[in-house]
Amino acid sequence: MTTRRSFIRYLGAGAAALATRLPALPVQRPALSFAGLAQGADERHHLPPGYEAQVLLRWGDVIIGQHDGPAIAIDDPALQLRSFGYNNDYVAFMPLPRGSASVEHGLLCVNHEYTNPAFMWPDVDPRRPGEAMSAARTAIELAAIGHSTVEVRREQGHWRVVNGRYNRRVSAASGVALAGPAAGHRRLRTGEDPGGRKVAGILNPCSGGKTPWGTVLIAEENFNFAFSGRCDDPRERRNHARYGVGHGGSYGWWARHLPRYDVAREPHEANRYGWVVELDPYDPHAIPRKRTALGRFKHEAATCVLDRSGRVVVYSGDDEIFEYLYRYVSHGRFSADNPPANRDLLDDGELHVARFHDDGTLDWLPLRHGHGPLTPANGFADQADVLIETRRAADLLGATRLDRPEDVETNPIDGSVYAVMTNNLARDTGATDAANPRARNRHGHILRLLPPGAPGSAVDHAAPTFHWEMFALAGDPARHARYPGALARESWFSAPDNCAFDRHGRLWIATDQGRAWRATGFADGLWACGENAAGDPVVKCFFRAPIGAEVCGPEFTADGSTLFLAVQHPGIDGLPGSRYKTPATRWPDFDPTLPPRPSVIAIRRTDGGPIGS
Ligand code: FEO
Ligand code: CA
Repeated sequence: MTTRRSFIRYLGAGAAALATRLPALPVQRPALSFAGLAQGADERHHLPPGYEAQVLLRWGDVIIGQHDGPAIAIDDPALQLRSFGYNNDYVAFMPLPRGSASVEHGLLCVNHEYTNPAFMWPDVDPRRPGEAMSAARTAIELAAIGHSTVEVRREQGHWRVVNGRYNRRVSAASGVALAGPAAGHRRLRTGEDPGGRKVAGILNPCSGGKTPWGTVLIAEENFNFAFSGRCDDPRERRNHARYGVGHGGSYGWWARHLPRYDVAREPHEANRYGWVVELDPYDPHAIPRKRTALGRFKHEAATCVLDRSGRVVVYSGDDEIFEYLYRYVSHGRFSADNPPANRDLLDDGELHVARFHDDGTLDWLPLRHGHGPLTPANGFADQADVLIETRRAADLLGATRLDRPEDVETNPIDGSVYAVMTNNLARDTGATDAANPRARNRHGHILRLLPPGAPGSAVDHAAPTFHWEMFALAGDPARHARYPGALARESWFSAPDNCAFDRHGRLWIATDQGRAWRATGFADGLWACGENAAGDPVVKCFFRAPIGAEVCGPEFTADGSTLFLAVQHPGIDGLPGSRYKTPATRWPDFDPTLPPRPSVIAIRRTDGGPIGS
């Protein structure tokens, strides 16, 4: 059994000295009272006794206007554009009316990351998907990616979708504006958009964030998958190579039907993706804006928090092995009394990248044009160049190469910051450091960052230097993993990805093993870190996904009575024989005529009480 004390001892003397500054764990918070789930894998989802899940939104549910039955496998892009998209990832619950504390009525804001054609049409062969992908089907794919805003209301404990005026789809073809220092820049201009200010939609929106002024941040992640070909311009070719853009592409038929996805014909198009997009869900006509000041990379998420000075800080991991952790700090300050003053706080500020030191400190290095190596001599003519080539700028600054940095969340109780590293099989034995302590890091880990003032109430998220410590080393505890508490039953986890805090400051960790679940032998799920009835730290599995799915979201209502989860790509990952007609699961419908459908579920305690306690 790993107690908190033995975990700290494991971390070694330096980290233990750091850990002694931590307060005692909050004593008043309720115990995690549910019976933790054991590991396993089957075609259904699982919850502890006393909990139930309602399937609220499925791919193909019509959310705007009317249609009989699910809008799937119908070659009508306009119908998909009125329907809930594919591969739901980020979920935000935004209360209605705006600014209220409602837990009964609100907007669910959901990202749709990418498509799996072999599960969207019965005649698509997953080994040669392009053969069956017409221009109309490509248009359906673009319509199935992006974002859904959906009004939802809870009545007698159950949620229902309201087909109302807020409902909206933003797709990979919708009009989206570029804003901030790179907007209009020469390297963002294309044949379709000579001004470099209006982009065709959002690509690969993964997780996201919420701002204090009531907007949603949508993080563009693996945008490179959309592009094929090879461009002649050596500078852009080098830039594209750093992001994995071009050549075969994962969706080669897109370039066949739409020239903008062919980098030989449109060498700048790929520079218009990989940004954080801000959307006002309360205004169905608001144009989403790509906030270029936050940098261009494979943003997993965009976690927004107010610094003690009132400045806005956004944390974001770049989800790829050996990539970096970033932080944006606004120059202006949030004003609760003057909403228009907050509108463009994400256009004027400074981006930083993290350098972790083995002594438990961390420096935030500014990506500032003219500063250090970020000069014309190194190919950066202006700040827009620095932002468009964020990764190369961070390389030159000597940032710490991490084990696939994904979600970042801030603890609402004590202001500490949790950064999730999913895994990295490519790290060699000689290339470990304190922040990436394992070679061939199969299971991932979680770092806890301590800005000055944390743990506490006046936390300096904008400070140039933080402290940090190891929070968890995932994997089998019999093989050197370490957890911040005793594990209930056979329930260790692998590949932490998205996470969320509940209102008591307890961390809930969702996993995404990809096809590697075949090696661990158990499905992805959601784990909670808290205390048992005796006050001792425990880690328990709360939710197990159906086979081949990852778990995204997690999002609690403010009272903790509902937990929304997004179940992405059920029946797909690690299941090579699975496809539309012969899927490994038909979750969530279990209808022999329907394929598995990515869906958002609403979990409640059957007695209506707060989840987890
Ligand atoms: Fe879209 Fe990093 O998962
Ligand atoms: Ca993710």
